[in-house]
Amino acid sequence: MTHFERGAVMRTPSAEVRAGGKGIDAARVAHCLKRKAPLIVLVGDRDADAYCRLLFDEKADFRYTTYLGSIRVATMYVEVNSAVSTVVNEEGPTISGEDWDTYLAEIEREIKPGEIVACMGSFPHGVTQDSITQLVNLVHQKGSLLLMDTAPHYLSFGLFAGVDIVSPNLDEAEAVINAASEDFFTGDNHDGIQRAKNAAVKLCEMGVKVALVHAGDLGTAIAYKESLSFIPSFPIKVVSAIGAGDSLAAGFALKSEEQGDVTKMDSIDWKLSLMYGTATASAACEKGRAGDVDANRVAEIFEAIKAS
Ligand SMILES: Nc1ncnc2c1ncn2[C@@H]1O[C@H](COP(=O)(O)OP(=O)(O)OP(=O)(O)O)[C@@H](O)[C@H]1O
Ligand SMILES: [Mg+2]
Repeated sequence: MTHFERGAVMRTPSAEVRAGGKGIDAARVAHCLKRKAPLIVLVGDRDADAYCRLLFDEKADFRYTTYLGSIRVATMYVEVNSAVSTVVNEEGPTISGEDWDTYLAEIEREIKPGEIVACMGSFPHGVTQDSITQLVNLVHQKGSLLLMDTAPHYLSFGLFAGVDIVSPNLDEAEAVINAASEDFFTGDNHDGIQRAKNAAVKLCEMGVKVALVHAGDLGTAIAYKESLSFIPSFPIKVVSAIGAGDSLAAGFALKSEEQGDVTKMDSIDWKLSLMYGTATASAACEKGRAGDVDANRVAEIFEAIKAS
């Protein structure tokens, strides 16, 4: 459509249906880097087949469990010859306790000790503080760490339940810290480096073990115990920065696991993992589809960041 108009009936010259979501972006990163990272998704039972077909077509390594209802749809109206796009996120159905337990059981089957379980994106209605506490406890019982990159609402549940690693952007981090509304993000990055550092320290004070706070084109702060660092973004020609944070979290988790048992936290160089995560996010920004990266380009940017 040439432009989106409230109240009008519009036609669109083309439409594309994709399996979306932050977990899928992260799994795509692992696939591009030839690393094993199974994706476990919760899908509405009504259109589960169509959704799984999309994942299957892109050769994703995935398992799924279902809940009653249709999959939540995000509709993006992209205007022709314009930078403006409009996104409508559906609320979707409510998950029952039984379906949540089935999902957790599927996750339990996949977790191996000493690894990072990345919990990405948002959840269906019906997922409560208790549900997230169950998830955190499950990951800990299996001898692993939980990383959360979710909407602030769920991140707060994670903090209360003892999540180990968090990777919000600056808006999300400040919303969690200030217990503020998550409906309207300003995207305001003024004084972003200092604010990201402050937020990372604060999240650790709130109980997180490793806090990453990223601020778009500025870069990412990382706090672990007494250490606090900032890895600036890498100069690149951006094609799309959508999902950059998802790629960053994926790269960070993969590099951390490569260093050994992540629960031996002092033996992991978390800053090095962030350098790799930044390289992954940068390479992802150079491509159009969230989570797509060129493995050689990730390696090249990682070397350049380490050398700087
Ligand atoms: N314009 C950019 N130029 C260079 N690097 C960028 C740019 N935007 C993002 N990045 C890299 O990606 C990282 C994460 O970006 P950002 O903070 O925008 O994630 P996000 O808001 O969580 O995005 P999403 O939720 O869409 O995944 C940044 O710290 C930076 O390393
Ligand atoms: Mg994000």
